[in-house]
Amino acid sequence: MSIADTFRNGTVFVTGSTGFLGKILTEKLLRSCDVKCIAILVRGKYGVPASQRAADTLKQSIFDRLRFENPNFVTKIKTIDGHIDKQSLGISTEDCDWLIKNVNFVFHSAATVKFNETIDIATKLNIQGTENVLELAAKMNYLKGFVYVSTAYSNCPRSEIKEVFYDVPISAKELKKLIEIDGKTRNVLEDWPNTYTFTKALAENIISTNENQLPISVFRPSIIGCAQSEPEPGWMNSMQGLVYIVNSIMLGLLRAIPMSMDKKTDIVPIDYTANALISVMWDTVNRYQDGSEKNKKPKIYSYVSGFDSPVHWGTFLNYVYETYYQAPPLQSVWYIFCIYSANSWFINFMRLLLHRIPAAFVDLSSIIRGKNSKMLKMYKKQDGIIDSIEWMLKNEWKFDNSNTRKLWAQLSQEDRKTFWFGFEDFDWKSYTQTMVYGIRKIILHEDLHNMTRALSKNRKLFWLHHFSIFLIIYIVFQLCWTFVM
Ligand SMILES: NC(=O)c1ccc[n+]([C@@H]2O[C@H](COP(=O)([O-])OP(=O)(O)OC[C@H]3O[C@@H](n4cnc5c(N)ncnc54)[C@H](OP(=O)(O)O)[C@@H]3O)[C@@H](O)[C@H]2O)c1
Repeated sequence: MSIADTFRNGTVFVTGSTGFLGKILTEKLLRSCDVKCIAILVRGKYGVPASQRAADTLKQSIFDRLRFENPNFVTKIKTIDGHIDKQSLGISTEDCDWLIKNVNFVFHSAATVKFNETIDIATKLNIQGTENVLELAAKMNYLKGFVYVSTAYSNCPRSEIKEVFYDVPISAKELKKLIEIDGKTRNVLEDWPNTYTFTKALAENIISTNENQLPISVFRPSIIGCAQSEPEPGWMNSMQGLVYIVNSIMLGLLRAIPMSMDKKTDIVPIDYTANALISVMWDTVNRYQDGSEKNKKPKIYSYVSGFDSPVHWGTFLNYVYETYYQAPPLQSVWYIFCIYSANSWFINFMRLLLHRIPAAFVDLSSIIRGKNSKMLKMYKKQDGIIDSIEWMLKNEWKFDNSNTRKLWAQLSQEDRKTFWFGFEDFDWKSYTQTMVYGIRKIILHEDLHNMTRALSKNRKLFWLHHFSIFLIIYIVFQLCWTFVM
């Protein structure tokens, strides 16, 4: 059966549908698979009820193409008001009964992706949340497949990561007990760099036991970047990790990054990721329908680009610079200039010189003019964000993705066309250009009409930047000369 046929008239339950991956997944399922209904778990937040949040999400531009192709797509969406971390997801009995009687496919994508979340919250959302969704899925009468979205970095203390379940230093049960005793204990992380990857590893460990004998798989994508082509090239949701770095460099705000330029990064476009995720569900359903016992174990699919199309941070950033020279943002505050080094001491010194001292001058001038001073605060936050991803920028991993490659090989030509996720001959230069233009449009809200002004401003920033360097060298030279004399 083709992928679209597998989903035809089926009912899908998606958690995390208001997030980056969840939105694209929902859109693609509605556009390319003739599903009967998609039930999306949405929580009320900041006083906005779940129903309103779901309606607002479906009005966003990411659904414009779908709206054009199928104006009534909203009728296929059922909003389930709930929180993954609450018992029985905190959903009404009526919704619970409906899910049990109707759902065929579960995509569990909801999580906290904040790297440095406190351990108690990360445990509640990423571990207890997963247990809660699994418990509900176990009751579903017509469940054909369950895919848990993990991360390629869940076992990041290892440099080589295979598509297997690895042992974890503590079980979920023991961790929860520890947290009950000592609320925010961090000593449990061992070699994991943060609570996010640690709790994702523990959630995978729960899936490995598959106590409820579910038709289940684990999907491990690496760093998810903007859309390559669907529903629109360059689409992105918000300023997460990679986008944050590229945007801050282009604005001339980020001038020193702890990074090894010769290390491989591993980026996958969001639309490819959603296609791979849907294909993993298709494979999961087929595996379990096949009936043989050996296929009835949870399987892991690593979704990475590095095997077929490796790219180094240095090459990726060169492409960012090349595109920046063609289309700099009008909002840039300084000419593009950034120092990269794996030496943390050096980077901290450069941060003082290139971030904090100029920021202090700008703040001082703001205070004198009776305005709010915000640059030092901004740099404190920015450096904190970059520090939280430093482990990713200075290391590289060898990911085995044999299961995903086998899955790709199994897809028919027709399915490949609709659910493309392969990386043969992937053009990183063109993808990086798409990302830079996407940031310009979606994050900075600048369209191409401002290009003449942006280029003219950029020329001025270029001269100002070089003049400043000349001035600093001159002053240092003069000081040295005076000292020697
Ligand atoms: N982004 C990446 O680069 C990346 C890479 C590898 C793996 N992943 C995995 O992909 C999945 C999705 O990530 P993402 O980038 O889409 O993250 P995201 O944009 O932060 O979305 C997270 C989603 O989870 C929902 N959620 C969080 N806590 C919830 C709760 N208590 N109850 C109900 N819903 C809750 C959020 O809902 P609200 O809107 O209500 O907050 C949101 O819809 C995650 O499992 C993540 O580990 C992401």
